[in-house]
Amino acid sequence: MSSITVEPCTFALFGALGDLALRKLFPALYQLDRAGLLHDNTRILALAREPGDALTHLAHIDSQLRQYVGDKEIEDQAIGRFLARLSYLHVDFLKTDDYVALAEQAGTAQRLIAYFATPAAVYGAICENLSRVGLTENTRVVLEKPIGSDLESSRKVNDAVAQFFPENRIYRIDHYLGKDTVQNLIALRFANSLFETQWNQRYISHVEITVAEKVGIEGRWGYFDKAGQLRDMIQNHLLQLLCLIAMDPPADLSADSIRDEKVKVLKALAPITPEGLTTQVVRGQYIAGYSEGQSVPGYLEEENSNTQSDTETFVALRADIRNWRWAGVPFYLRTGKRMPQKLSQIVIHFKEPSHYIFAPEQRLQIGNKLIIRLQPDEGISLRVMTKDQGLDKGMQLRSGPLQLNFSDTYHSARVPDAYERLLLEVMRGNQNLFVRKDEIEAAWTWCDQLIAGWKKSGDAPKPYAAGSWGPMSSIALITRDGRSWYGDI
Ligand code: BG6
Repeated sequence: MSSITVEPCTFALFGALGDLALRKLFPALYQLDRAGLLHDNTRILALAREPGDALTHLAHIDSQLRQYVGDKEIEDQAIGRFLARLSYLHVDFLKTDDYVALAEQAGTAQRLIAYFATPAAVYGAICENLSRVGLTENTRVVLEKPIGSDLESSRKVNDAVAQFFPENRIYRIDHYLGKDTVQNLIALRFANSLFETQWNQRYISHVEITVAEKVGIEGRWGYFDKAGQLRDMIQNHLLQLLCLIAMDPPADLSADSIRDEKVKVLKALAPITPEGLTTQVVRGQYIAGYSEGQSVPGYLEEENSNTQSDTETFVALRADIRNWRWAGVPFYLRTGKRMPQKLSQIVIHFKEPSHYIFAPEQRLQIGNKLIIRLQPDEGISLRVMTKDQGLDKGMQLRSGPLQLNFSDTYHSARVPDAYERLLLEVMRGNQNLFVRKDEIEAAWTWCDQLIAGWKKSGDAPKPYAAGSWGPMSSIALITRDGRSWYGDI
């Protein structure tokens, strides 16, 4: 069915009854199977700590799968084939004895892929137990985020895993890297000489990266409150997007060539100074407001919340990259929960022409913009200046789009979920879309100094109404530089 060859494997999913596994991982595996991308001999072992009868757990996985995949994509034959690959095993992740049964089921005839959808605190123990029962040889391990909550704790987790697995068999997930449109950033930049020649401080004035979510905390208060939006979104997803926009062209498409370039960007990020903390960074926390016309509670009134919390649900900041390509080009990053819409978008603002010959009152609109829409309505649009039509218009300028909407242009049936791509690449042994240890560490180093600065200042996050674009000071952050967030309504 498919032209891609994927070797058979035993896919052992730790934390198989957790939210991530049920919502994302089983549906992604099912979609791969349905697309003919799983080898006939591939087996899936669902491993969880929950006691109880295996058949009951399997029935639960089945019913959740149908719910998350949706009626249109559930096919009886595909579901039957998928469930036939699946078995359930009760494993207490900390007990070596429980791994004996896993070793028997997994065998050594084909490669083991061990996916850790569990808290990072147990990654080391799982690795050690896999090693005790002889399951490390040739095994690939997949680590979910968050890996630690700062540089020190992430090093601990990475070091614990590294005792048993070499870096080239460790796959650290950042699911944004699996999104089709995020991979398109590489194609857009390096397969089009048109852009790459302009991609520097000579032609670009600034860059905006917005990842806005409409949802609030959705029952995850316990986890989220310890993390906050900086750790949950900026440290990984937004910094990865920034790297893909800012990195130099890699020598080739190999995982290490790309990752070497990304690390250089992370290391070139200017630390935020104590003064910068007040002018360059805004933390916010949502208060009650409206989402889709319905009133919704504030962060401190969410289920299981603690009314004292000063965890941020919104961050906007200006990052500067200290290198020749980007000197003097600010990258404005913004991400928050309970924003007016779900939107992930990158806007590259080009400088105005070096010699301006049109009417002075039109000067403000001059400047091309490249808008890369990651979700929803994936596509790319380039705003270009043209002359308005009509005899009475003279040389009146107008900004219009050169538009590429992926689903209209390529008539793609469906955009695969990021996890489908990522799981497929693990099975194919391609580390391109996974984060290397030094990348994570460089990202934490930059975020840690920010968190330390916040702690020292003791400032509480600024309130913003649910359903708004964040605190007023996030608008001031960019208007102070004579700019505005693109497209805010
Ligand atoms: C996760 C964060 O990594 O990404 C969540 O932990 C966030 O808080 C999610 O909601 C957003 O992902 P997506 O793919 O919906 O943009």
